[in-house]
Amino acid sequence: MFKKKPLSLLHEEMKSDNRLKRVLGPWSLTSLGIGCIIGAGIFVVTGYAAHYKAGPALLVSFLVSGLACIFSALCYAEFASMAPVAGSAYTYAYATLGELFAWIIGWDLVLEYTVGTASIAHGWSKYFQNFIGIFHLTVPRLLSCAPFDFDPSRGGVVHTGSWFDLPALVIVAIVTVVLVIGIRESSRFNNAMVALKLCVVLLVIGAGVFFINAANWHPFAPFGWAGLSLFGKTVWGQTGADGAPVGMLAGAAMIFFAYIGFDSVSTHAEEARNPQRDVPIGIIASLIICTVLYIGVTIVLTGMVPSDQIDVEAPVAAAFQRVGLQWGQFVISLGAVAGITSVILVLMLSQPRVLLAMARDGMLPESFFGAIHPRFRTPWKSTILTGIVVGAMASFIPLGILAELVNIGTLLAFIIVCLAVLIMRYIHPDTERPFRCPWVPLIPVLGVLFCLVLMFSLPSANWLRLFVWMLLGMVIYVLYGRHHSVMARRRKMSMGD
Ligand code: ALA
Repeated sequence: MFKKKPLSLLHEEMKSDNRLKRVLGPWSLTSLGIGCIIGAGIFVVTGYAAHYKAGPALLVSFLVSGLACIFSALCYAEFASMAPVAGSAYTYAYATLGELFAWIIGWDLVLEYTVGTASIAHGWSKYFQNFIGIFHLTVPRLLSCAPFDFDPSRGGVVHTGSWFDLPALVIVAIVTVVLVIGIRESSRFNNAMVALKLCVVLLVIGAGVFFINAANWHPFAPFGWAGLSLFGKTVWGQTGADGAPVGMLAGAAMIFFAYIGFDSVSTHAEEARNPQRDVPIGIIASLIICTVLYIGVTIVLTGMVPSDQIDVEAPVAAAFQRVGLQWGQFVISLGAVAGITSVILVLMLSQPRVLLAMARDGMLPESFFGAIHPRFRTPWKSTILTGIVVGAMASFIPLGILAELVNIGTLLAFIIVCLAVLIMRYIHPDTERPFRCPWVPLIPVLGVLFCLVLMFSLPSANWLRLFVWMLLGMVIYVLYGRHHSVMARRRKMSMGD
């Protein structure tokens, strides 16, 4: 279970025929990164986090979260340059921590990519309905949302009176078709969405800056600078009305969601023309661009509206309406719909590539998850399966509970990648590293520490849910992966010898 996959085997496998098409350059990879990063986080979560968690100090929360991501991104970049294959953190864990950890992290990535996409598609539907509402169009009530929802005030599930969420189902179906047709088409579709959302974000910053009232930044940190809990007990800072920690750090843990996505660039390594150079560029450039934009939007939002009056549903659009910029609602809703579309696209692009790497290692049935379409050169069967699962979850299941899991699952993946870089430097000091993370061991250690602080700043229920998710994964591993994995096969062969 702790057997590691030799790096030489990884390099050998890269020469086989059953590979994806190498068409992505540095611009496309950076665009895929931005495509996956800017979405519901900046357009929605920022409002809740500023209002209830951090106040104007959310600005610093973005810096803290951004730093955790930069440290992890440098580690991702080093690994991606060493092993430019499709599996991302899963592959890195297999090479350094062994099969069991690899499975755990692969299963964890399902949480980030499939469960994450389903909850985001759910949000897309709401934004889309708001957007068409501007033109007085509505989706029939019976087709407007999932049939039941979780009501926190009652602590139970309630019927919504709808059959299923048609818009969520339709967007997932459209994206699935684009993804199956080809990586080039997917990348073009993504580029268009990214161009649109970047224009909207720049417009928000450019126009909003004229309406900043510095008085809104006092007090700057109304909930304090802390907000750290340990398995449900606030150990540093104040506790909010819902029992969860509040403060700058709690805000950082919440808006970490806005940064999720840069890591997905590493799953496209096999489709990059020059992965060793361009994947690190894509990861780091997309993250830096988005960090700067996020900080810009937060400065504008908290400067335009007193933080206790920031709207939690559509914070940016409401801020613009408040100062009389009526066009804000149209432009921002359009940006949000485009932004969230590309997040769905890139997350759904990433999931089958991780499954592909796992299938090649025998952790999943290779005939299905490893199948590459002869003409489109995409992992088409698992792309369609991902589409079906995401579509079903997004249109039928209340996802509030699962959505929160995405942060903790992604933070765990980041920690594993930072550790993997440290281990690799120790066990393979001389392997060629076209990109080297600077200041090792400082940066990976800081990456681990920052991510741990953010994990502990999340409400405790997340830990329990993560544990249950992992337990489920362990059962699958024990029943399937353990007996079929490439290392198990090698073990059997060497015993036969
Ligand atoms: N970072 C992505 C978003 O904010 C997941 O929607």
